[in-house]
Amino acid sequence: MPSTVVLGASWGDEGKAKIVDTLAEKMDVIVRFQGGCNAGHTVVHEDKKFVVHIIPVGILHPQKICIIGNGVVINPYQLIAEIEDLQKQKISFENRLFISSQAHITLPIHTYLDEMNEKKRSKNAIGTTKSGIGPTYAEKSSRSGIRISDLLDSKYLSARIDNIINSKKELLSDWIDKNDVKKMKMDLINIGKKIEKSIVDTPILINRFLDENKDILFEGAQGTLLDIDFGSYPFVTSSNASIGGAITGSGINPKKINKIIGVMKAYFTRVGNGPFPTELKGKIGNFIREKGQEFGATTGRPRKCGWFDLAATKYSSMINGFDEIALTKLDIYSGLKEIKICTHYEIDGEKIDYFPNRIQQLEKAVPKFISLPSWNEEISDIRKYSNLPKNAKIFIETLEKIINLPITIISVGPEKNQTIFRNKN
Ligand code: GDP
Ligand code: IMO
Ligand code: MG
Repeated sequence: MPSTVVLGASWGDEGKAKIVDTLAEKMDVIVRFQGGCNAGHTVVHEDKKFVVHIIPVGILHPQKICIIGNGVVINPYQLIAEIEDLQKQKISFENRLFISSQAHITLPIHTYLDEMNEKKRSKNAIGTTKSGIGPTYAEKSSRSGIRISDLLDSKYLSARIDNIINSKKELLSDWIDKNDVKKMKMDLINIGKKIEKSIVDTPILINRFLDENKDILFEGAQGTLLDIDFGSYPFVTSSNASIGGAITGSGINPKKINKIIGVMKAYFTRVGNGPFPTELKGKIGNFIREKGQEFGATTGRPRKCGWFDLAATKYSSMINGFDEIALTKLDIYSGLKEIKICTHYEIDGEKIDYFPNRIQQLEKAVPKFISLPSWNEEISDIRKYSNLPKNAKIFIETLEKIINLPITIISVGPEKNQTIFRNKN
């Protein structure tokens, strides 16, 4: 299977990193293609927890090549901090990490603007991770952005930074008073020197690897419902977290994508603001949050938890063309009395079985549920589908039937081996 894309099907944090980590063993190359350090990807290796934000999860597997694609926005300071932190944990970067010369960088200015914008939005705040994601992608779209390769040309870099500052003088007046732009430029040049050997033309590299029949795994960040076009706009991130982002964010020839895996949690979560029709505000929501440890890997914020939303999932599957599903966190349901699945919404008395694209409609969506019995047994040690409790199998098969896709990977714990593979082909 030369190229496989792993995407989040909902509002992020579906457990993509665990699935990528599980699949990475059979891969040669792992590519991140969008988002930035708003992503928090957690992997547990023999009780040791690693959280990466910009670097592909494949870095935890010695020998695997990792690529940060052109669609990723990179905070250079955080990139270096992440590399150094992983090096301290004995992870080698020697000839393994390649960074797209076309990837745009997040300047401290963008992080500042993200915070200011959120303040100004007041009660309408998006609840961003304050990583500067929106302002960086805005800069890129307005053609005034700075690319990683610009760190290698001090004169050009300096002029580009001056251009950004001059165009936003009023907005940045406080920031300018408190910061030393000359030092920032020097720091960036130094970072450029540190990563110079890793900066390459990644679309050429990726397509060459494909020609050489290397197995490539594309690691999505965020999720389809946070996609700038298809998500719950404006309560979204600023990149395409759906399949299109994998193509434009890496330069892969789209005809060469062989498999698209949608990652879904057995329940839904959301961090940040915006409508969440199946949210559980009481005891059950707290049970899921505590047992599932649903706290943001990037910001530490508690994640809102809710029932599995089939209307949203069918939409996500339609947009992405999933071939199969990886279902995570099934273990969290052990001990609940019943499990609910939202099959459709009612909006102004009308039955709607898709994800509405207008936020005003999504805000009014009343979820309609079917109820299934849960199970008591803990399932984290189960490795064979046939050994799962009967009601867990009913839950899985009900989802498969309605989404009309096979659930081929079932995750029952954070560790790589806590996974059940089902061959449905
Ligand atoms: P991502 O952003 O989609 O990669 O997901 P995160 O890493 O932000 O959040 C998923 C969290 O759930 C992490 O702490 C994982 O270690 C953990 N996790 C993943 N799969 C499972 C699972 O099947 N069961 C349990 N209990 N935890 C899991
Ligand atoms: P991973 O890759 C969950 C959310 C933020 C906010 C919105 C916009 O770990 O699944 P941004 O900082 O991107 O401008 O914030 O998107 N968000 C995520 N939620 N998982 C993520 O990444 C997220 N990245 C951004 O909480 O609601
Ligand atoms: Mg996450």
